[in-house]
Amino acid sequence: MLLDGARTVVGRVQRARETHGVSGVVRTAGARVRQWAHRIEEHHWWEAVLADVPQARPMPEGMTAGRLPREDIDKAASLPMVNFAAAGERYAAGGHNWVALDETDRAAFGTWAFPGKVPLRVGHRGWATLPADVVGVEDGATTPAARRTNVAIAVLGVMADTYTAEGMRSLVAKTAVGNRPVYMLLSRAGYRRVGLMRSVWIGPLRFATFTDVEGPVGAALEAELGGGLPGKARRTAARLAGSLRQRTGRAG
Ligand SMILES: CC(C)(COP(=O)(O)OP(=O)(O)OC[C@H]1O[C@@H](n2cnc3c(N)ncnc32)[C@H](O)[C@@H]1OP(=O)(O)O)[C@@H](O)C(=O)NCCC(=O)NCCS
Repeated sequence: MLLDGARTVVGRVQRARETHGVSGVVRTAGARVRQWAHRIEEHHWWEAVLADVPQARPMPEGMTAGRLPREDIDKAASLPMVNFAAAGERYAAGGHNWVALDETDRAAFGTWAFPGKVPLRVGHRGWATLPADVVGVEDGATTPAARRTNVAIAVLGVMADTYTAEGMRSLVAKTAVGNRPVYMLLSRAGYRRVGLMRSVWIGPLRFATFTDVEGPVGAALEAELGGGLPGKARRTAARLAGSLRQRTGRAG
């Protein structure tokens, strides 16, 4: 098996050398190592306080929005960026797969929503915990053919109405800095920025810093994730101390 793996790697290097030449392979490998060694991503965090969002826009003609049951997941397979591979894990984690379908059950827009948490690579085990009445929204996308038909903003409106009726306080989302369409979409849908997160990867280490923090949800995210490496070390130590106390049965 090890031999098969080595053969695969050698084959890939040979193919890359034929395509890009030796210096090309070295350049690509160097870029990969640099990316692995040090990578920074910047995201805006947004919050829509449900009591303050504008009235929902009507769904485009012939479209309906709802939470897709797990057994219908194939209907969402054509959507870009809905993290199809993670769907099973996300349903199991209590995620809601919001999808807009046309009359022929073709999906035009989809996004995930998680009451009380949100997937986050720099978070503890890939998640950030949110207050229980806050819903994390992640991985929204419209099919190229349905863009600018107001389908995304209309679904965000349906979600806001639904979660208001279910007693939730707000929705939060993060977007890559520089993604103008989603920046405009969320601003129009009544979301306000509550923090700027810089995620840093150094080799196997990953951590986050927060600036421009606004309001209680921004503060909760910063408390859970922010502070850079010292913050991460503090939180890890607190977690370890907590589990040690649990195991030894001592009160904290
Ligand atoms: C961001 C995205 C979901 C928007 O979907 P959409 O269905 O086209 O958006 P809507 O038609 O509902 O647009 C609603 C409002 O958002 C804003 N908006 C949407 N796309 C925009 C664009 N390309 N440029 C500027 N504003 C835009 C507009 O204000 C628009 O209202 P208007 O058309 O009345 O002016 C879509 O562009 C997309 O799938 N992008 C790729 C995936 C992605 O980046 N997802 C975000 C991950 S965090």
